[in-house]
Amino acid sequence: MVDANQARRLVILGTGGTIAGRAAQASDHVGYVAGQVGVGELVQAVPALAGLPLDVEQVAQVDSKDMGLPVWQALARRIAVHLERPEVSALIVTHGTDTLEETAFVLQQLFGPGKPVVLTCAMRPASALVPDGPQNLSDAVAVARHTDACGVVVVCAGQVHGALEVVKVHTYQLDAFDSGDAGPLACVEDGQVRSFRPWSPAPAGPTHGTSLLARLLAASALPRVELITSHADAGGGLVRALLAQGASDADRVVRGIVVAGTGNGTVHQALAEALDEAEARGVRVVLASRCARGRVVPHPGLRFADSAGLSPVKARLALALELLAA
Ligand code: SIN
Repeated sequence: MVDANQARRLVILGTGGTIAGRAAQASDHVGYVAGQVGVGELVQAVPALAGLPLDVEQVAQVDSKDMGLPVWQALARRIAVHLERPEVSALIVTHGTDTLEETAFVLQQLFGPGKPVVLTCAMRPASALVPDGPQNLSDAVAVARHTDACGVVVVCAGQVHGALEVVKVHTYQLDAFDSGDAGPLACVEDGQVRSFRPWSPAPAGPTHGTSLLARLLAASALPRVELITSHADAGGGLVRALLAQGASDADRVVRGIVVAGTGNGTVHQALAEALDEAEARGVRVVLASRCARGRVVPHPGLRFADSAGLSPVKARLALALELLAA
């Protein structure tokens, strides 16, 4: 039996991304291939991690633009195994930045506010003259070992973000993530974690727990939920094409549509009419906002269910997981 004070082992799981990227030239920050360097090599590049009780495992090696159910299944399977180990206090996942917020959300829905699961990344490849990955990994370990840490968080550029709030906001700068109105949970300064507010990780999704995990692991695909943006001159053609495709191909039935609405969740009239038709045919419609900040403020005039503050991509996953668990 290992008590809480002895449970100090960390597990680092690699999934690829720019943090594991390699370019032909050290000066090249954009023309690289993501997911090339093994996670063991990434750990060895951080001298501060030498001698720590660490287990390191390569779960996948992908550019996170290609993230999806197969990697989430592999990752969730290994996280579930390691979370059960009494000697393990926290997990760290290295990941590409492009869909980091989506994986963070899925893991938060699956594993909720338990032992810390800290995702980290880099904006420059491992081969860069001055890569940011080693510092981010070192900071992620500091966070994983911190007493406040719990639940699923993201560490990048010295900031700690909650899984529900975090969003990638910059294409190139090292400080590429933001937590919107909520702000980051904490920062990391020379290995010290300074919390800005109490860490109260959101509870796992309403469908979380072993049943959602079991369903995710057994699924051959997530229920089909599409994301559509409302914009000037929008129409209902995409929605009607989805409905027509589902009518002729049972494997392609759309179960839900998330609309990234304008402003406080307004939707172009022509698109809204097509969405009404979709709802009438049993398709779930959820409304988020395409605005970078704020949330859809609920009011009686809202035509569709709102995303409860989730960004469009996270609202898409929330609905897919809800449909999976139903
Ligand atoms: C990726 O998301 O895998 C590539 C981009 C990055 O990690 O910054």
